[in-house]
Amino acid sequence: MRDSLIIEGGHRVCGEVRVSGAKNASLVIIAASILARGRTQLENVPKIKDVEVLLDILKYQGCLVEWEDDGTLAIEVPDNILTESPYELSKKLRASNLLLGSLLGRRRQAKISLPGGCDIGSRPMDLHLKGLQVLGSKVVLEHGYIEASVIKLQGGRIYLDFPSVGATENIMMLASTTPGTTIIDNAAKEPEIVDLANFLSAMGAKIRGAGTDLIKIEGTEELKAVRYAVIPDRIEAGTYMAAAAATGGDVMIENVIPTHLLPIKAKLEEIGADVTQINGGIRVRGNDKIYPVDIKTLPYPGFPTDMQSQMLAILTIAQGTSVIVENVFENRFQMVDELKRMGAKVKVEGHTAVVEGVPHLHGARVKATDLRAGAALILAALIARGQTEIDNAHYIFRGYEDIENKLRGLGVKVIS
Ligand code: EPZ
Repeated sequence: MRDSLIIEGGHRVCGEVRVSGAKNASLVIIAASILARGRTQLENVPKIKDVEVLLDILKYQGCLVEWEDDGTLAIEVPDNILTESPYELSKKLRASNLLLGSLLGRRRQAKISLPGGCDIGSRPMDLHLKGLQVLGSKVVLEHGYIEASVIKLQGGRIYLDFPSVGATENIMMLASTTPGTTIIDNAAKEPEIVDLANFLSAMGAKIRGAGTDLIKIEGTEELKAVRYAVIPDRIEAGTYMAAAAATGGDVMIENVIPTHLLPIKAKLEEIGADVTQINGGIRVRGNDKIYPVDIKTLPYPGFPTDMQSQMLAILTIAQGTSVIVENVFENRFQMVDELKRMGAKVKVEGHTAVVEGVPHLHGARVKATDLRAGAALILAALIARGQTEIDNAHYIFRGYEDIENKLRGLGVKVIS
């Protein structure tokens, strides 16, 4: 497969698309399956690159991993699962840091390669480590690895300076099998946190408050393997919603949880789209004008940072100037230089991007720099006149299942 996508712009995006399972719920739930004895069976896990890499790590560690005929993902974890996640594999996936909490929760030790930074920021792990240490883990950072072991595990109270999704998840996983009561203050409230809590509870964990900023966990002896279905991907859904809104299209998006999409629905309505809920799906109709809007990304339930790049891309042709403030990551305007090659007028000052609407974009050869920047370039290509070639398309395949065929199903001319 080429590492590029060629897209013909200037057409309305119309039709139906089914959203896959959530990448960010699947990754943490796959990691959490390490906590359980027996055969875990996960439904609705998307076949995307990030999932493939995490499963490669589990296989390296001795787990049995298989996709059953109906698409269910089965994972069996041996009692002597290897507690090291090798650099060669971990460096490909930031989310490999979620193995810290589950390996400690199961084997009381873990050695994972310190995930490198990526294009959207330095991605520190200080809050993860603070939480694991409060519960009684000893953490050593050296030679690019985090080596964690247990002195004496005991529930405790952890305040997160920032409601970090990954830190909340790692603490939840370790706390699930840590004797005593653990409280996480200022916890992340994302839907993927609730999905993890539901999965852990199904396995026998005692967790209350997931989805609020205070989560309480009573440690339990042993967790058992279960069958569980992962929630739909709200960011994939939002990306297709934005495609309809930006091209004056009409798209019916199936397999969504509407409440997860409220911040995205609100913003797309502000730019002029019509967004309606119909029998468990969402219908988005764009109109011929795109109004400028201001966006501030925030932890859930604020506007999601993972939709910021996509919104910036479509606001390049708004009837006026939009201001976008990125409050979650320190460097998430990487795609602006590529959008400028397509005729966009954007000025970036620190965490703020000022987007001055232009009459239209024109196709160009551009390159993806991270997953959501890649998604933004697809949206830019859809609204541009002429053809756009997006290099480094592998970034996009990390998080969007079967995106070429889903776009073709919406009438988009895609060559991959
Ligand atoms: C998760 O990343 C998601 N990834 C990200 O999605 C998402 O953008 C992010 O949450 C925010 O919603 C997965 O779930 C696999 P954070 P995570 O810890 O857990 C700072 C995508 O495109 N921070 O909430 O790494 C950090 O630097 C990806 O699907 C610390 O300072 O995000 C960042 O500025 C991208 N110290 C902010 O918190 C820490 O110990 C948010 O990070 C941890 C984080």
